[in-house]
Amino acid sequence: MAIADPSNRLEAMPPYLFAELEKRIADKRAAGIDVISLGIGDPDQPTYDYIVKAMQSAVADPATHQYPSNRGRDDFREGFADFYERRFGVEIDPSSEVIPAIGAKECIYNLCFAFLNPGDVALAADPGYPVYTGGPILAEAKPELLPLVPELGFVPDLGAIPSEVAAKAKLMFLNYPNNPTGAVVPDGFFDLVVSFAREHEILVVHDCAYSETTYDGYEAPSFLATPGAKEVGVEVFSLSKGYNMTGWRCGAILGKAEAVQTYWRLKTNIDSGLFEAVQIAGIEALNGPQGPLQRMNATYTRRRDLVVSALREIGVEVTAPRGTIYVWAPVPEGHTSTSFAELVLEEAAVVVSPGSMFGAGGEGFFRISLTAADERIEEAVERIREHLA
Ligand SMILES: Cc1ncc(COP(=O)(O)O)c(C=O)c1O
Repeated sequence: MAIADPSNRLEAMPPYLFAELEKRIADKRAAGIDVISLGIGDPDQPTYDYIVKAMQSAVADPATHQYPSNRGRDDFREGFADFYERRFGVEIDPSSEVIPAIGAKECIYNLCFAFLNPGDVALAADPGYPVYTGGPILAEAKPELLPLVPELGFVPDLGAIPSEVAAKAKLMFLNYPNNPTGAVVPDGFFDLVVSFAREHEILVVHDCAYSETTYDGYEAPSFLATPGAKEVGVEVFSLSKGYNMTGWRCGAILGKAEAVQTYWRLKTNIDSGLFEAVQIAGIEALNGPQGPLQRMNATYTRRRDLVVSALREIGVEVTAPRGTIYVWAPVPEGHTSTSFAELVLEEAAVVVSPGSMFGAGGEGFFRISLTAADERIEEAVERIREHLA
């Protein structure tokens, strides 16, 4: 043992692959190469003006400067309840069924510490957002991967989960519209999830990070709109992607009251809540004018169409996603996810994410993020066409 040795818990974690990718991009850029990154999903456009204005006036009010409470402001909880009613037709009790989160990532991670004992099992969609496995590992629990089956529309086959695994599971992480596959939830799937969770007494955590980023008239449902969902689950809602607010760290957890209160109890020991000015701006984001969000979705639609048609031209069979900011595509024959991503980086100086970055179930695919300016996306697809056709 030496000074500053990492804990065994941290040592058990796989490396955070985006950090490695960022370093490789930085090295290439330092060598004078014009790298176009379509790797990470961080919206390139600024937060909408009306939200920035709400923040400016909130931050000028000294009443927002003190410690917030972990329960959140009354108007934040009420504002979320109004939004859920209007947007999803879901009734939320503002006094017990919603509190703020400092982004979905924090919330998902902390739910692991709120509910998992060492040795417990958490079911994690595979491929999936890395915290679904990293959170359980850090909590000394065991993530069990639920392969998302392309033929089923990228949902797990719940019937294929061994009964001894289901019996040990305490949490299940799902996410629609889905990162990284871009899939939207097939009709009836959430009903199956509710029955499965009831039967095996599992708390469902539905990560709703992309519900507002949808195309072609598709409107993503809330998991909580499923009959019985509030008895077995919570939803983690994030303003990061839809409202271009990744830097603001604004989200909420909603649903089963006992679960929300347990998360709150854990948080009172860890952090001191979400900056009240951010809460005020977040509520304005959700309940203010939604025109900028719609225009942003029109921009993503245009970018999506560019990427999808360029990929089809070089023979990649790809489904145009109806939600999220990602295009998920199979790698050409003879490649692994990593070898293809390396090839695109070396030949075209374009960064795409290898599907295997999101878990074993992502092998054989790559992900393109639509969060670069139109001209950069056009340039990237041109380079891919030129070098890989
Ligand atoms: C599925 C999913 N959940 C959660 C997050 C993180 O959201 P937040 O910025 O609210 O922490 C991301 C970000 O990429 C994501 O893709």
